[in-house]
Amino acid sequence: MQNATLHQLKVFAAVASHNSFTRAAEELFLTQPTVSMQVKQLSKTVGLPLFEQVGKKLYLTEAGRELYATCQDVFARLAQFEIAVADIKGLKQGTLRIAVVTTAKYVIPRILGPFCRRYPGIDISLTVTNHQRMLDSLSGNQHDLYIMSQPPEDIDVKVQPFLENPLIVLASRSHVLAKQPQITLERLAEETFIMREPGSGTRKEVQKLFETNNVTLNTKLDLGSNETIKQAVAGGLGIAVLSKHTLSLEGSNSQLAILDVEGFPIKRHWYVVHTTGKHLSAIAQAFYEYLMNEGKQVAEETAFQGLLS
Ligand code: PGA
Repeated sequence: MQNATLHQLKVFAAVASHNSFTRAAEELFLTQPTVSMQVKQLSKTVGLPLFEQVGKKLYLTEAGRELYATCQDVFARLAQFEIAVADIKGLKQGTLRIAVVTTAKYVIPRILGPFCRRYPGIDISLTVTNHQRMLDSLSGNQHDLYIMSQPPEDIDVKVQPFLENPLIVLASRSHVLAKQPQITLERLAEETFIMREPGSGTRKEVQKLFETNNVTLNTKLDLGSNETIKQAVAGGLGIAVLSKHTLSLEGSNSQLAILDVEGFPIKRHWYVVHTTGKHLSAIAQAFYEYLMNEGKQVAEETAFQGLLS
């Protein structure tokens, strides 16, 4: 393994975590042939194939699984080293690594603005991912802090709420229900639903509400991005449940309407989370305190007053 590079390991780990060369390439901002080439070279160094393709699906081989576990150890050690260095440098320099659920990407960058101005030497690494991937990353100890709506129950974590994250029902502005008051869940279920992908926290929450009320949803489409869902709703493909914050950049010309449905908005919060035993770097500690003391106020001050008002 002397000839393997850290870059190759990162590329390999991205392919392994997504089970896809294409998605790894997107995440790393590389071309797909570059990703394939790096994995091929790494596989040559190891002397065994790392992936196998069965039908359309990509699987890790036994050697691949061993290497993936090794990569996670190596990355976790490097992250610890970075924390140690960051502590030595104090708040002057270093990287804050945060992972946020997709809904929080509408808020966290705005909250980060004043923090970055306060500590100009700090770099930010912001990963945006869905609920399930965030849980995987939390158990792999890959980030300093995690922003999520449903803290895990089976991992020992420290959890603090800092902002509301209500879920609302969206339809196109011209939809027949757009101006109707007090829509029942049964009436809503007659409509075609567009859902977030499996693994999404938003999806889980919607399913829970409908199951608890014994109402069956008519789901037409699963889409992996809040933005794509908004476009599909605006295009009249169906209705959807999303975080109200996904509307933060919608102006008064928005093609979307918030429906008045019983049981909505579903009240949720965002929590800042880290594993209990984690040693937070000085930077991560400063951001944690900033989020708790000023996060809500900054989010409200910088919110775009379009559909949200
Ligand atoms: P999601 O997360 O992107 O997994 O739907 C959102 C949330 O849980 O708030």
